[in-house]
Amino acid sequence: MCGIVGYTGGRQAAPIVLDGLTKLEYRGYDSAGVAISGDGGDIDIVKAKGKLKVLCDLTDGGKKLNGLCGIGHTRWATHGEPSQNNAHPHCNDDKTIVAVHNGIIENYTQLKAKLIRRGYTFYSETDTEVATKLVDYYYRKYNEPLKAISEFALHVRGSYALAVLFKDFPGEIFAIRKDSPMVIGYTDGGAFLASDVPAILKYTRNIYYTDNHEIVLLSKEGVAFYNLDREEISKSATVISWDAEAAEKGGWEHFMLKEIHEQPDVVANTVNYFLHGDNLDLSELHLSDDYLKEIDRIVITGCGSAYHVGVVAQYVFEDLARLPVTVEIASEFRYRNPVLTGRELVIVISQSGETADSLAALREMKARGVKTLAVVNVLGSSIAREADSVLYTKAGPEISVATTKAYSSQLIAMYLVALKLAKLRGTISEEYFSTLKKELTLLPEKIKTVLENKSVIQKFASEMVDKEDVFFIGRGIDYATCIESSLKLKEISYIHSEAYAAGELKHGTISLIENGTLVFGILTQKALVEKTVSNLVETASRGAYIAVLADENVDGIPVKFDKVFRIPHTDGHFSASLAVISMQLFSYYLSVLRGNDVDKPRNLAKSVTVE
Ligand code: AGP
Ligand code: GLU
Repeated sequence: MCGIVGYTGGRQAAPIVLDGLTKLEYRGYDSAGVAISGDGGDIDIVKAKGKLKVLCDLTDGGKKLNGLCGIGHTRWATHGEPSQNNAHPHCNDDKTIVAVHNGIIENYTQLKAKLIRRGYTFYSETDTEVATKLVDYYYRKYNEPLKAISEFALHVRGSYALAVLFKDFPGEIFAIRKDSPMVIGYTDGGAFLASDVPAILKYTRNIYYTDNHEIVLLSKEGVAFYNLDREEISKSATVISWDAEAAEKGGWEHFMLKEIHEQPDVVANTVNYFLHGDNLDLSELHLSDDYLKEIDRIVITGCGSAYHVGVVAQYVFEDLARLPVTVEIASEFRYRNPVLTGRELVIVISQSGETADSLAALREMKARGVKTLAVVNVLGSSIAREADSVLYTKAGPEISVATTKAYSSQLIAMYLVALKLAKLRGTISEEYFSTLKKELTLLPEKIKTVLENKSVIQKFASEMVDKEDVFFIGRGIDYATCIESSLKLKEISYIHSEAYAAGELKHGTISLIENGTLVFGILTQKALVEKTVSNLVETASRGAYIAVLADENVDGIPVKFDKVFRIPHTDGHFSASLAVISMQLFSYYLSVLRGNDVDKPRNLAKSVTVE
């Protein structure tokens, strides 16, 4: 959510800051602004409601703003409506301290009251203005920026990535973060900060991931890190292996379409990284075989699509590894008081590794002494760093808000862990273990086959473009695919849809079926096909338009169904990996046909760093 960029060095700052913000647009925002410290030290602030283009037009792409040091922000409003006034940067009264902030200051009401008692006035509704004036308050008291920032950190509750310019320290940016992402980069050309790597990858691949409560001082000479006691600490940079192009559209109409088509490679990358020939090697996880054998339950948690991966995994783990599994929505789980034996393995799934609720659930579990495994895509993200062990998915940067390739690589990660556990616990035969491993290596080709048939889905989408309600129904793993398909459809096409366990429909929801309502059935689980077909027939009898997506080996599909799409056969445990591809395409084409902003759907943000 929101994006922050900062630059200080030998070049004009504003164009670099605006360019960086453009790379962070995918995160979601409603207004934008920049602050540039000019030659005399005066700080210029320009802000605008709406798209970055408005800000770029106002400043001629930043060229109108002189100065070699600046910060910028795209805001996803939490406190106060999206408006020019509430947009960041925020400043103190004489514009000598200017800040941008991502996150939420939870105790801002109390802090605001305290500052008002000390004579401060406020021009906006934001918590960020309070944060800025709190820094001002401590700066006036101690006359030292590092001290002002550390006092700020000691007095606020909540989450923040905060970057501050002080007029008294031209050419320097002070920054700190807690629970909101912030990366730092440095080259001969200057120092950079950003909410995410793509914003600065053009300039440097050497990235420093900051920890909570580390203060960073950026200047053209370099970057320095301090703890809250203002003692300098040393950190080493991580070299990013993917290049800037990986985060560019590269000729595709939308990032989502590009990312959908990257799935054969992404799945192959994740499979091949952990499966060498016949050898399944998860040693990178640092979870000993002895420990894994002792586990008595798996708890999987995440939000949105990551949670949906957990639902697929529940079926796979239970069936292959014969372990009890519960899947929990992170925003609920974190507030529960679960009964734990201490022998659980908690798996937190998150593409960004920054989702506030997933991070909070992870911390809650760690505090209770339970071992945690993070399945994360973004290197060095908070969840990756805080979990006891990490399995990195190999999806590369995912820009489109609607996840596709990250979801697919998370599925693979979960299959691999399930296979490992099944092997260790002796719950599958050696022969079946080999068959499944082989099957995983065949998935990329089968995904390609699904993609090659995309025109059929595209045509179908054009026929369904006016539908207002869609139901996805299935049983078992097909139900898990349904919930992801439904979310994808809602998220980017804005068509209302529901996912239902096929047998549950008649317990109330079937009353919504009218003449022409689209009911999409997923049929890949051989043993469950007949039952789901019966449920589809029940809706057809009430006028529904029936489309089914079926494994090519499934038979018994009534001829009266309106549309039948086939996908290649795979082992039933892995069928979500193929079925979801068609459903991603279906949502994508509907979104395009309805003229929506596919990669940046309304009201949404890529990385949900607020609770
Ligand atoms: C999926 O298309 C969504 N954009 C969303 O549900 C997402 O999966 C969720 O917000 C979790 O994000 P994370 O994987 O980065 O934690
Ligand atoms: N809470 C701040 C605001 O509403 C920052 C929101 C953001 O992260 O963009 O202004």
